[in-house]
Amino acid sequence: MSPQVVRELVEAELERAGVEPASLRVLDVGAGNGMMGEELADLGVGHLAGVDIIPEAAMATERDRPGVYDEYFVLDLTDLDDTQRGEIAAHRLNCLLLVAALGFGDIPTAAFAAAHNLLETPAWLAFNIKEDFLDRDDDDTGFARLIRRMLADGIIERRSERRYQHRLSVAGDPLNYLAIVAVKRADVPQDWLAELDEGM
Ligand SMILES: C[S@@+](CC[C@H](N)C(=O)[O-])C[C@H]1O[C@@H](n2cnc3c(N)ncnc32)[C@H](O)[C@@H]1O
Repeated sequence: MSPQVVRELVEAELERAGVEPASLRVLDVGAGNGMMGEELADLGVGHLAGVDIIPEAAMATERDRPGVYDEYFVLDLTDLDDTQRGEIAAHRLNCLLLVAALGFGDIPTAAFAAAHNLLETPAWLAFNIKEDFLDRDDDDTGFARLIRRMLADGIIERRSERRYQHRLSVAGDPLNYLAIVAVKRADVPQDWLAELDEGM
């Protein structure tokens, strides 16, 4: 259900900003089997690229949701070479989607920062996290700290957010998540990237 919630939040924010979905050129990071991509295609984004580290994700997307992505890259965002960087940048992306992948140890923080820097400026950003995630200091992925720094330094600007119940935990307690839409105003500085590589 996260893909639907994030899509609705993006849709509402675009409407408020008077931006046509067709003007979006999206990078869906950690695209998996394409659930978010399906929502984005349905929303009517102009161009849709997915990226995932495992070939099985691309194969599952091709099997279950053929034609949803204009391009699906199989690569490791934490280990891009110049050719890969150039190929992705050639898509002139102005929107980053990252769903069910951050702060859970699924996608490394450095992969998020690398993807952010592949976007043009300004660009839209949308992702989901556990609801109390940004306030926590025990996050050993470094993601909460990076986002707080990006907000404080104006690298991203928070536009809207929505709390929602993702599902029940195995103990039956509700697990609340937060979907966030933000705008990119600048790249993540190189020295921050170096810190992330060292495990900030
Ligand atoms: C929890 S899944 C999210 C799938 C999808 N967004 C969804 O909502 O169903 C996280 C995905 O990130 C991918 N991933 C992990 N590390 C990555 C990296 N360094 N570069 C690119 N993709 C990565 C994984 O292979 C996995 O498919």
